[in-house]
Amino acid sequence: MAVARVLVVGSGGRENALAWALARSQGNPQVWLAPGNGASAAISGCNTLAIDVADAAGLVAACTANQISLVVIGPEGPLAAGLADQLRAAGLAVFGPGADGAQLEASKQWAKQLMQEAGVPTADFWVVNSAEEGGQIARQLNRPLVVKADGLAAGKGVTVASNLEETIAAIQECFSGRFGIAGSRVVLEEQLSGPEVSVFALTDGKQLLLLPPAQDHKRIGEGDKGPNTGGMGAYAPAPLLDAAGLEQVRELVLEPVLAALRQRGISYRGVIYAGLMLTTSGIKVIEFNCRFGDPECQTLMPLLEGDLAAVFMACAEGKLESAPSLTIKPLCSACVVAAAANYPGEPRLGDLICDLGAGLNDVEAEVSQLFFAGVKSDQTKQLKTSGGRVLAAVAQADDFDSAFAAAYKRLAEVSFAGMQLRRDIGHQVRHR
Ligand code: AMP
Ligand code: GLY
Repeated sequence: MAVARVLVVGSGGRENALAWALARSQGNPQVWLAPGNGASAAISGCNTLAIDVADAAGLVAACTANQISLVVIGPEGPLAAGLADQLRAAGLAVFGPGADGAQLEASKQWAKQLMQEAGVPTADFWVVNSAEEGGQIARQLNRPLVVKADGLAAGKGVTVASNLEETIAAIQECFSGRFGIAGSRVVLEEQLSGPEVSVFALTDGKQLLLLPPAQDHKRIGEGDKGPNTGGMGAYAPAPLLDAAGLEQVRELVLEPVLAALRQRGISYRGVIYAGLMLTTSGIKVIEFNCRFGDPECQTLMPLLEGDLAAVFMACAEGKLESAPSLTIKPLCSACVVAAAANYPGEPRLGDLICDLGAGLNDVEAEVSQLFFAGVKSDQTKQLKTSGGRVLAAVAQADDFDSAFAAAYKRLAEVSFAGMQLRRDIGHQVRHR
């Protein structure tokens, strides 16, 4: 049966892309975003609900009032806090793991131990509970390590040290409370090297449906320089992993992890995001996340064709084998993010956004999309910046050169004071 009414929880570009794709599902479901952002209600088929992601009771009440049957949870925070459990307890079907499964992202120690048990290839590691213990291990090993705060740290809890002193300083920084409770336990890892690629698998806890591999661009600056961000652009399918490589990821990484989760009594329903490094000694897992990547999600959604709402519902109900098939368009998808002034530091807010583009009519939506993230709408319905990453332009074409040309062209129609963007997104796959 077609899914008629869906709620997407979250407010970023990822959630806007999910809502856009869900609204285009075969049954044309009505989609709500809670809370969404200043541009969410402009997406065809979508409305917003002013309910905070932490307000489980408010979300349940809104689902009842609007006869919503499926909830898709976008960000890791509410997943780790157990929002999916609370919604399931109220009888709703939820795409997104419970707090148990979300530990895959919310505790690096937990994820590393699970990988070790399941025989999933990953960097060697040491768990430490104090700066002294960490310092001792680092000195014994006498080489630079990767230092990771155990808990959720908004992508900022990882230091790839270039020498022993930096390793020790990073350990001390974690235990000094810089990442709050997330840094009260630290995972030290051997440093690996190689290109990175992300694989996303939809799952009902038993079956897996792999999406095309995607490549993110984490640094703020061109040439992959400068501080880390949430992601300044992406493309898919990343040629780093061909069909055989993707199968290897299924066999070596995703199936064993799912089996290990089941062994712990965890029925994981949602998306598993595997951050991989392709090293000279094979594929290694750098991290798992319990949600879609942002902006990888914006890049991937336009490549999917079929009844996405029915597929997410089948995952939520533990029946992925009976879901309608989802086809992947044989196109290249390019995504470029525009960020606010001073991002990834404290972003400047309140800059007026001018979009001289034609808007998202149906014909255009087939080949290019604008997904808004950190924006709010003022009393006069004008859009203003309200976060670090403001929007993403996404385009699809037969080749990456054309896809990126179209994404940059779309982005050139948008302006706001202090707009930052990287001109070299996709440099790995572009010729011009
Ligand atoms: P994470 O938040 O765990 O994905 O780490 C952030 C970034 O740190 C990754 O995207 C990698 O570039 C880098 N990184 C993490 N772990 C390692 C490792 N063991 N060796 C080398 N680089 C790493
Ligand atoms: N773009 C990386 C992430 O969402 O974690």
